Amino acid sequence: MASATPTASAEGTVALEYDGKSLSLPLIQGSEGEVGIDVAQLRNKTGMITFDPGFGNTGSCRSAITFIDGERGILRYRGYPIEDLAAKSTFLEVAWLLIHGELPAGPELERFRRETTYHSMVHEDFGRFFEGFPKDAHPMPVCAAAVGALATFYQQPETEQSIHDSVVRLIAKMPTIAAYSYKHSLGQPFMYPKNALDYCSNFLHMMFATPCEEFVADPILAKAVDLLLILHADHEQNCSTSTVRVVGSSRANLFASIAAGISALWGPLHGGANQQVIEMLDSIEAEGGDVRAFVDRAKDKKDNNRLMGFGHRVYKNYDPRAAILKNACADVLKAKGLASRQLEIAMKLEAIALSDDYFISHKLYPNVDFYSGIIYKALGIPVNMFTVMFTLGRLPGWIAQWIEMRGDPDTRIARPRQIYTGATARAYAPLEARGQ
Ligand SMILES: CC(C)(COP(=O)(O)OP(=O)(O)OC[C@H]1O[C@@H](n2cnc3c(N)ncnc32)[C@H](O)[C@@H]1OP(=O)(O)O)[C@@H](O)C(=O)NCCC(=O)NCCS
Repeated sequence: MASATPTASAEGTVALEYDGKSLSLPLIQGSEGEVGIDVAQLRNKTGMITFDPGFGNTGSCRSAITFIDGERGILRYRGYPIEDLAAKSTFLEVAWLLIHGELPAGPELERFRRETTYHSMVHEDFGRFFEGFPKDAHPMPVCAAAVGALATFYQQPETEQSIHDSVVRLIAKMPTIAAYSYKHSLGQPFMYPKNALDYCSNFLHMMFATPCEEFVADPILAKAVDLLLILHADHEQNCSTSTVRVVGSSRANLFASIAAGISALWGPLHGGANQQVIEMLDSIEAEGGDVRAFVDRAKDKKDNNRLMGFGHRVYKNYDPRAAILKNACADVLKAKGLASRQLEIAMKLEAIALSDDYFISHKLYPNVDFYSGIIYKALGIPVNMFTVMFTLGRLPGWIAQWIEMRGDPDTRIARPRQIYTGATARAYAPLEARGQ
């Protein structure tokens, strides 16, 4: 499974002055002009390391998959603007694009559609695996456990063919696993996938159908799910993607690496934020709908409340995905004849925050999670499944990044250093000498 090889050319050096000495560090330049200082020889040559908690200034790899310009609000997959992909493509096409580097030709897309359709069932024994979880289990750890467990069903040695099979199985089975985790929480029977349906209609079928009556997925809602998945499909070296790469750098298999990514995505500061946005909007409404008061609390450093769905490590401008979703939100609600008090509150919050000095000076804008939860609610997706939807979308991005990492000759097992701040060497204290 080949993907475009990341390239970057060296463009000059910078000099590091220390202790009266000088070290010349090479510069690396990317295809969009970003420049990195290559510090690979730093510790060898100087005994010093870099210190960058949260890795905000650290490039961990070269990558040819996704380009983000956070200052200008630009997001592109393999060079294609997210706006074009959202308007013209389907999730399966985007998944192929991310993994293979090019949009699929007709026969390639048809083969991919067939493969991901005909691998969507899970082994019956695997279905029973869900029974062990408590009924109130959050579906994210259930999904992480289930994806990790796929590695026990597919234990072939790693070859190009077995990686291809794992990719197909993951993309095909993820909607089934996601829907099973939901059905388990309801105590309803699992619904088998239906091969006649497209990817997102099939997911809605497995989520909402029961064996007792006919269910027809609404094409407007299936299209909205497809859009949401496209918008979430990759976002360069974010927390969960870096996790997938770090785990995969130890040569852990694709299933194990993706399971780790799902766990990283579960955190409230990452994929869990859309659930928190809905909870925030609900609590604002429950407290009388005073949007201004909530914005003031979010600015107060003594108050732990942040404006959820606002701010981003990379975007210091309007997140382009949020702009697309804001319009989609209004369209879906209109097409379904639904009113959303949450959308009203969200738009008020956005208007106040975007004209407030604090949010302007901190460059805090709505991110993708600000509107995604509102659409999910309109689609009938329960709140605790929101992050699972994010997982469905992010899967091809994680896969593409894992494959790129494995093929990159610069990949080494991820192993950061630290600045040790603990006790220096001291004599062991016997128990009787340790006091109370
Ligand atoms: C996304 C997020 C984790 C990015 O974090 P980060 O890059 O580490 O930025 P920081 O947390 O250091 O924030 C920088 C400053 O903005 C403030 N800030 C960031 N997000 C804020 C928010 N949502 N509401 C209020 N203040 C916020 C911080 O308090 C900090 O202020 P200070 O410099 O005056 O101390 C952060 O913006 C956040 O928590 N947002 C809400 C959660 C969310 O929507 N996550 C989804 C991300 S897709």
